[in-house]
Amino acid sequence: MVSTLVFAQENLEYNSFSPGSIWNDTDGSHINAHGGGFYYEDGTYYWYGEHKDSHSLANVGVRVYKSKDLYNWENCGVALAVSNDPNSEITKGSVIERPKVVYNRNTDKYILWFHLELKDQGYAAARTGVAIGDSPLGPFTYIKSFRPNAGVWPQNFSEEQKNFNSEESKYEWWTQEWSEALEDGLYTRRDFEGGQMSRDMTVFVDDDGKAYHIRSSEENQTLHIALLTDDYLDFTDTWVRVQPGGQNEAPAVFKSGDYYYMITSGLTGWDPNAARSFRSKSMLGPWESLGNPAKGKGANLTFNSQSTYVLSVQGLKDAHIFMADRWNPKNHQDGRYVWLPIKISDGKPVINWINQWNIKDEFLNNF
Ligand code: GAL
Repeated sequence: MVSTLVFAQENLEYNSFSPGSIWNDTDGSHINAHGGGFYYEDGTYYWYGEHKDSHSLANVGVRVYKSKDLYNWENCGVALAVSNDPNSEITKGSVIERPKVVYNRNTDKYILWFHLELKDQGYAAARTGVAIGDSPLGPFTYIKSFRPNAGVWPQNFSEEQKNFNSEESKYEWWTQEWSEALEDGLYTRRDFEGGQMSRDMTVFVDDDGKAYHIRSSEENQTLHIALLTDDYLDFTDTWVRVQPGGQNEAPAVFKSGDYYYMITSGLTGWDPNAARSFRSKSMLGPWESLGNPAKGKGANLTFNSQSTYVLSVQGLKDAHIFMADRWNPKNHQDGRYVWLPIKISDGKPVINWINQWNIKDEFLNNF
């Protein structure tokens, strides 16, 4: 099927991507939607992201843009607004990161999941939050935030691991003993009752309608993948630990052929590091490690960026776009977007730097 969306519209400003450059919306302001998530419906793409001021705290909320061609984006306002109520969990000055919107066909609702840190607590809360809306543009209504899967063991945890008696205070961080203990489930057990930590995250909806929440957990040392309930508003008891002790964050998932692919980063805060990639025949694993998908000059820092999403272009086969943030912690609203084509080669995702590119030329053979 040939998609009309891939042809740039002539009278609009952009007809290509320039990764890392200032990217103006249709009003002429640099797009302010960091740590973004994407949703497609009826010929329109929606881009949700963190509205940043010069600093990184949420003073506005989750912003939404729309586009028909992926190059030219119209600012559609605030999809989820922070609250002026100081007692609200999403009060102004909290941390709202990596918003991801999915549509639930059972309830005809739009569900927004995000990473929430409570105001004035740094990154200690490590919660995921959820909001609901009637339209892709929102407004979304905040429901709740929590640490997921409280009182539930992961599927890939042995009886021995469940019963092992380990004291967190016994271990000094970054020692060999500590890394063995955490791989064995030190923090999974510690957080069993109160719920598992949830920081960087994404949501992936499979072809069968099942939705998965992927979180950086266990002090960011281990990824967790959890099946959401049928209405996508909560967690089921089905979840797994992935790459225990692997130190992955910024997860982005897509599907190609028989495989699910995941791209992540390592843990260096706002600073870039080398991306990682994985594949699996099932969202619940086992996930096989494939190394850094970025190739060539700049690959060791993922072209100075950190993953946030992989968008599969509608109407094309295997036209996947790696979407990443080039953070600017000195002035967060100036953070840039690095979008690059992903090619699957020998069953592995490959990302090369291109100064300027367009969907038609890069994915021409994929019609
Ligand atoms: C990064 C993470 C960002 C943000 C930042 C805060 O590692 O990917 O989403 O949380 O840390 O320092």
